[in-house]
Amino acid sequence: MCGIVGYVGRQRAATIMIEGLKRLEYRGYDSAGLAVLQNGGLTVVKTVGRVAALAKLAAGKKLSGTSGISHTRWATHGGVTDANAHPHLSSDGQVALVHNGVIENYVAIKKFLLTKGYNFASETDTEVLANLIAYHLAKEPENSPEGPRFLNAVRKTLLHVEGTYGIAVLSPAHPDQLVAARKGSPLILGVGDQEYLIASDVSALVSRTQNVVYLKDGELVHITTGGFTLNTLDLADISPVIDKVTWAVDEAELGDYPHFMLKEIFEQPQALENAMRGRFSADGSSANFGGLNLTAADFRQIDRFVFTSCGTGWHACLVAEHLIERYARIPVEVDYASEFRYRNAPLDRNALFFVVSQSGETIDTLAALREAKRKGYKCMAICNVVGSTIAREADGGIYQHAGPEIGVASTKAFTSQLLISSMFALYVARMRDLSFADGVEYVAGLRRVPDLARRALEQAPHIREIALRYARFNDFLFLGRLSLFPIALEGALKLKEISYIHAEGYPAAEMKHGPIALISEQCPSVFLVPKGELFNKVVSSMQEIKARKGLIIAIAPDSVELPEGLADELITIPDCHEAALPILATIPVQLLSYYIAVARKCDVDKPRNLAKSVTVE
Ligand code: AGP
Repeated sequence: MCGIVGYVGRQRAATIMIEGLKRLEYRGYDSAGLAVLQNGGLTVVKTVGRVAALAKLAAGKKLSGTSGISHTRWATHGGVTDANAHPHLSSDGQVALVHNGVIENYVAIKKFLLTKGYNFASETDTEVLANLIAYHLAKEPENSPEGPRFLNAVRKTLLHVEGTYGIAVLSPAHPDQLVAARKGSPLILGVGDQEYLIASDVSALVSRTQNVVYLKDGELVHITTGGFTLNTLDLADISPVIDKVTWAVDEAELGDYPHFMLKEIFEQPQALENAMRGRFSADGSSANFGGLNLTAADFRQIDRFVFTSCGTGWHACLVAEHLIERYARIPVEVDYASEFRYRNAPLDRNALFFVVSQSGETIDTLAALREAKRKGYKCMAICNVVGSTIAREADGGIYQHAGPEIGVASTKAFTSQLLISSMFALYVARMRDLSFADGVEYVAGLRRVPDLARRALEQAPHIREIALRYARFNDFLFLGRLSLFPIALEGALKLKEISYIHAEGYPAAEMKHGPIALISEQCPSVFLVPKGELFNKVVSSMQEIKARKGLIIAIAPDSVELPEGLADELITIPDCHEAALPILATIPVQLLSYYIAVARKCDVDKPRNLAKSVTVE
């Protein structure tokens, strides 16, 4: 959540940071601010609202400084006010700081600092960091054998801090320097041409450099115009590893689309192709996942998979559960990452863990991964962002290669997780009892998915018309069975997230055990209709709704024939292999939510109260 951009170089820091903040705005957008070092002092500009408001305000100031820090906020402690916006200054004016994360012992630190004469202007936990660094800076000798004074003051401060942080710090007494550190909140150093950037997300850096150093927890970087050093909190030097970012700048740009969400919905055929590229076995009957670092013999030992994730990723885990149990006949347990880490579940001896995360930075998912590893389990990650914390800490994994996902509502990352789950189910199924012939048919079915997704997208104008008719309703039910039940949950989540409409996802047959009480002319139901043995059962559930005057939007494969007049609206999806059905059924629910949100004039890419990546508990 929140975004950080810092700069030390030869250009105007404010211009570069505002450009970076615009790319990070999807991380949080309550307020924004920046500080630059110039004329021997700090100039701070901050405001409630979007980065555009900050840019407007900054344009009226003379911001020529070439070192700076900046921030876009998603509020945790303290309301959305100018005073609570970052950067925060120490009360003696010697330190400016931006922070992502939560300082858990801020009350105790604040009490201590008040006794030392420091004052506070905001309600945030962050401000204690600025003042505590100023306190240590004032005590720190000029030539300490422990190293540079500014770095030491930050380091000593962090030794007293409990909680999580990604910080970037400036001090007017140390011009052309910036200190940044991380614990539990991502931070990346960009190494450019005679310039250095620090950011919480690579997308803020890629327009200036593709050379990056991913900071690890407990590391500090001290940047000057001449270079940088990397240290740990206990003063050990670290040799930096410079990685190359492979994303192109335009991948994270809107192009001709009105919203990132729509762009990313339409990018799904490509994302699906990327997810499967090079991952089918040469004999065309199975999949390959080199990144798992496990042999067929290792897989033979596994008697249970545990999948954990949050939000949309958790829905992908439910589909993985269905497919793995159905095709590979291995039990799967699915847990919310936030619950798993606290519930101390009894686990099988030979369980293999998977965490699923688009960003690779979600704090609950990261904590679940760490908990599983602490208990001695191997933990794999299905992750989109290369080099993210989860990707680095996992024992192995599968990269999604879906490209940057900027829209807060996850779309292409989800269908790519579904495809990877279905390929993984095939992979383990072929090590067990799935026959060669069934494997070949499965692979052929998955290979068609990108093209079928293109066809499903052709329904967009029809779905838009339906959305315009239904945008006035304030309650929706999404109903599906087996592998389509998670898609019902996902459809309801999408609608809630971006249009603020109350929506619930249910297994279709469960509807009559309670939710049916909601049915009226004012509460439409979106049915995800399967083929095969459950078709008739789902039709019966639809009849029950119709009998109570409920409106029905049906999403059904081309070849099924619904009884005349049962559905008020019909959206068809191409017929496909059963393992691909959840992917194709997802596309209409994404488009329906999108067009309803647009019709209700909601800010689709920046829905209220949300942020793209949830890096606080
Ligand atoms: C999806 O639309 C959400 N905004 C959210 O539920 C998201 O999926 C969740 O926060 C997990 O994020 P991650 O995949 O980056 O870990």
